[in-house]
Amino acid sequence: MSKADNKALWSGRFSEATDEFVTAFTASEHYDRRLFREDIRGSKAHARMLADQGVLTPADARAIIEGLDAIAVEIEAGDFPWDPALEDVHMNIEARLTERIGDAGKRLHTGRSRNDQIATDVRLWLRAEIDACVGLLRRFQAGLVDLADQEADTIMPGFTHLQVAQPVSFGHHMLAWYEMLVRDESRLLDARVRTNQMPLGSAALAGTTFPINRDQTCTELGFDAPTRNSLDAVSDRDFAIEFVSAAALAMTHLSRMAEELVIWASPITGFIDLPDRFCTGSSIMPQKKNPDVAELVRGKSARVHGALNTLLTLMKGQPLAYNRDNQEDKEPLFDAADALRDSLRAFADMVPALVVDRERTREAARTGFSTATDLADYLVRRGVPFRDAHEIVGQAVALGVQTGRDLADMELAELQQFSDAITGDVFEFLTVEGSVAARDHFGGTAPDQVRKQIAAARARLKTDARGGSV
Ligand code: ARG
Repeated sequence: MSKADNKALWSGRFSEATDEFVTAFTASEHYDRRLFREDIRGSKAHARMLADQGVLTPADARAIIEGLDAIAVEIEAGDFPWDPALEDVHMNIEARLTERIGDAGKRLHTGRSRNDQIATDVRLWLRAEIDACVGLLRRFQAGLVDLADQEADTIMPGFTHLQVAQPVSFGHHMLAWYEMLVRDESRLLDARVRTNQMPLGSAALAGTTFPINRDQTCTELGFDAPTRNSLDAVSDRDFAIEFVSAAALAMTHLSRMAEELVIWASPITGFIDLPDRFCTGSSIMPQKKNPDVAELVRGKSARVHGALNTLLTLMKGQPLAYNRDNQEDKEPLFDAADALRDSLRAFADMVPALVVDRERTREAARTGFSTATDLADYLVRRGVPFRDAHEIVGQAVALGVQTGRDLADMELAELQQFSDAITGDVFEFLTVEGSVAARDHFGGTAPDQVRKQIAAARARLKTDARGGSV
């Protein structure tokens, strides 16, 4: 290839064409083309600003803006001639613009660099992604609140160590998931604050000699403020790390929910039935109905955790300012955002549609001496020190284990042999309903408390996501 064949827009100082493998190795257009809308939006704002500042003629700015609009249509229609020799989304679009409008196209890059351009594009893209994820989080939260309402009086076992611990309201369990998602939303919105800063105008690293108006582009692009330091602005990817970090934790939450859904949908517990439309069958075992969506969400958490590690490692060795390493930020960022969005969508659709087998969850809650703590608390209210009450109930449980009976199935006289503080009313406290209803304080599992939390959650969900607080 002769120098004349070199398509790169930066080839002036080079005396031979780029090695073919290097062209392929350095190209990013096959994935950063995903940013074409943001790239065009940023370029239009830049051109308009340059014209207003007298750096571009109004005619050139008009030609640039019309040309970029036409290119957007071309790309949307799948008619754009993407070329890896032009490296990335920026140079593909700029080269095409010049092809279409001539010299005006070559003036677009005045006073900017791909370094501030890409940082601007990614921030614009991520801001929209965050908003989409927050929207999905809210839809999922609302679905969980509705399910909690439907199942506030449903008794299920609460677990510690996956051993039956104490009975809880199924609605309370759904609201535990809701709380995780409220924190996830708060973290995403916090990451949005630092994402929504505008690097454009930082140029390659030191700013530009042209009389730019950064406030104008900032307002036009909907950023909160222009970045304050050009060196930092072109090299900073903290906002991407913060987003992926929030996404990784959100995926950890979804993965924990997935794990519970898989356990509950197993015939071993039989707590829930997932709608057929969210399950798949086995190619060999005709009886199978598998919770694959939940399993895939659990599996996709691995990608997002991996992306976080990739981005942290990508940045740790970089001196100021821009380094080409940064091109490697896009694939993990895109992948993490896609995994989070898809997983949120899947769960927002599926989870609120699950059907609880209320008999089974109640029966399971009656196993494992789940009201033993209630008996101990009963004794404490009758003056027995808690540590002694614990010992007494332990002896009653031992009898239950030996004779294969729950505390509620024992005779009064049998219970009384362990403590004379026990009287006939004890059985009210040994039922699973009594146990749940007795935890009647802020944050407790009593159905009345669950309903109070549902009302609070519904009021919160009516407010603007940005005004939400934890
Ligand atoms: N494709 C590059 C990236 O993603 C754009 C910036 C390239 N800048 C440069 N000086 N090579 O980071």
